[in-house]
Amino acid sequence: MKIVFATGNPHKLQEINEISNGSAVEFVLPNEGFNPEENGSTFEENSLIKAQEAFRVSTGMMCLADDSGLCVEALNGAPGLHSARYAGTQQEKIDKILSELAPHTNRKAKFICVMTLLDTDGEVLHVSKGECQGEIAKSQSGKNGFGYDPVFIVEGTNLTMADMSEDVKNKISHRAKALSDMLSFIETLK
Ligand code: IMP
Repeated sequence: MKIVFATGNPHKLQEINEISNGSAVEFVLPNEGFNPEENGSTFEENSLIKAQEAFRVSTGMMCLADDSGLCVEALNGAPGLHSARYAGTQQEKIDKILSELAPHTNRKAKFICVMTLLDTDGEVLHVSKGECQGEIAKSQSGKNGFGYDPVFIVEGTNLTMADMSEDVKNKISHRAKALSDMLSFIETLK
């Protein structure tokens, strides 16, 4: 079964296909012209916007979209929806989190991922959510992954996501959890 995955990022597509390896689903990129305006006020709204934009350019295909971000408790859930545009470069985003958290003792944080699946008529079939709990490190560590991985210590470990191999991250991440729920739902469609 081919499902469009609403991203312009081939790396993200590859990650999603690696996580779902072994299932009957193959995710493919949207047709040309995919350019969502992510102006929703929740992860749910933004994942719906991305799914509908993928459907607009790939009419007649089932479409799956995700929206994700890092929510830090002591920063009232920031950067949250704004994780991708919290500061300039990724290093600047990491530096900003570390300096904003410096006065706080509570370093609890979580990654959230919401996925929305549309059917071949563009109607919502299923929404899934995955969370990964952890805390923000005092300094960055690790070379793997992307985004905030070097400062996110996964609950129950003393490793940042960037210290983990891709295989391990793909078993415990917010995206892996949301996708696992979504794939179980897709199985029921057969
Ligand atoms: P989006 O879901 O592609 O809009 O991603 C939002 C932003 O959240 C990314 O640009 C990253 O900054 C951050 N983010 C989402 N998932 C992860 C992750 O697994 N590791 C690190 N950062 C992440």
